Amino acid sequence: MRRIPVWALKPGMIVDRPVYDINGGLLINRGRVLKKEYIHRLKRMDISFLYIRDSFIPDVDIEDVILDETRNRAISVARSVLEEAFREQPSKNSLNLIMEKSNFGEVVDDIIDQLLGANDLMVNMADIRSTDNYTFAHSVNVAVLALTTAISLGGYGRSKLRHIGSGSLLHDLGKIKIPLEILNKEGPLEEEEFEIVQEHPLSGYEIVSQKDILEDAARDIILQHHERNDGNGYPKQMIEEEINPLAKMVAISDVYDALTSDRPYREGFLPHEAMDLMEIKGDEFDIDMLRALFHHVAAYPVGTFVELSSGELGVVVKNKAGYPRHPRVRIFFVGEDKERVQPYEVNLRGKVDQTVVRALKEDEVNKIPGAQAMISGER
Ligand SMILES: [Fe+2]
Ligand SMILES: [Fe+2]
Repeated sequence: MRRIPVWALKPGMIVDRPVYDINGGLLINRGRVLKKEYIHRLKRMDISFLYIRDSFIPDVDIEDVILDETRNRAISVARSVLEEAFREQPSKNSLNLIMEKSNFGEVVDDIIDQLLGANDLMVNMADIRSTDNYTFAHSVNVAVLALTTAISLGGYGRSKLRHIGSGSLLHDLGKIKIPLEILNKEGPLEEEEFEIVQEHPLSGYEIVSQKDILEDAARDIILQHHERNDGNGYPKQMIEEEINPLAKMVAISDVYDALTSDRPYREGFLPHEAMDLMEIKGDEFDIDMLRALFHHVAAYPVGTFVELSSGELGVVVKNKAGYPRHPRVRIFFVGEDKERVQPYEVNLRGKVDQTVVRALKEDEVNKIPGAQAMISGER
């Protein structure tokens, strides 16, 4: 299974991970052969990538850290609550009711249970998003990443994990009041537009406080997720110990998810690029939390085409928690001419003299002689 940008999709390719619509309904199932119409439809929905089965690693599955069903349910729950909060005059208890009816707490518990139950918790996969469900899908992924951080750090009991989960799912609640033209704007924001965006932590916090939903710690997450350790965040320019640690975990997860997502105005950064960017900005984030998260996020996810310091080129087939930058790689091409070889595997874990030097984007993969045939499924 490999992740391919939508522009590189061709009729005849086999879909290896289902695509869901905004309601969690199945749009394209696993095993489907791509047709022109599907590709058009994906483009219309602003979906930017798909997972396909080609001849490089047809035997390797990429597993999400939570079940598709749980992710879809969480997206739909986040969406129900956010949309209800947007209604002109929601009745006093409407948010409470929606949360009860949609089993909000149960969904949060499911995510926690699945992450705690993973035998080697490692994020290798990105969820497939459209512009329509971006905010909701983003919220769910932030919950997954923030919970992963807490689990990695250890010492957080069930009730704190629940606060992290529910606060994350609703962290951008206030964004529902921002016009979509601003949220999806291509190019930099005008000053007034940026001011409107900056209102969302406080307006979200006010909604949950008025409606008396969520515990204090989860409300702090909503209010403080754009605060930064060095005081350069908003809305209150808090510093280090003034910020709730749970909000700091959500802040890190929020930035990581935003950086790695494709947006209407730019392509997402690759995981290792986002990690580098965040590590450089060490003063903004809690460094221990950053490390705790990045131990469980693959810098080069399974399916990534990488070049090794030895000049070998291949595809990542496995990552292990604690060694995010040292994957196992199946080599297909070697040397300057990128000569095709009988595939063999190299495990970079524990190797001091061999590293990944870069990840190749799909247009570069396409240029390797001999890669084309394998992408289209031939051998
Ligand atoms: Fe936000
Ligand atoms: Fe966010």
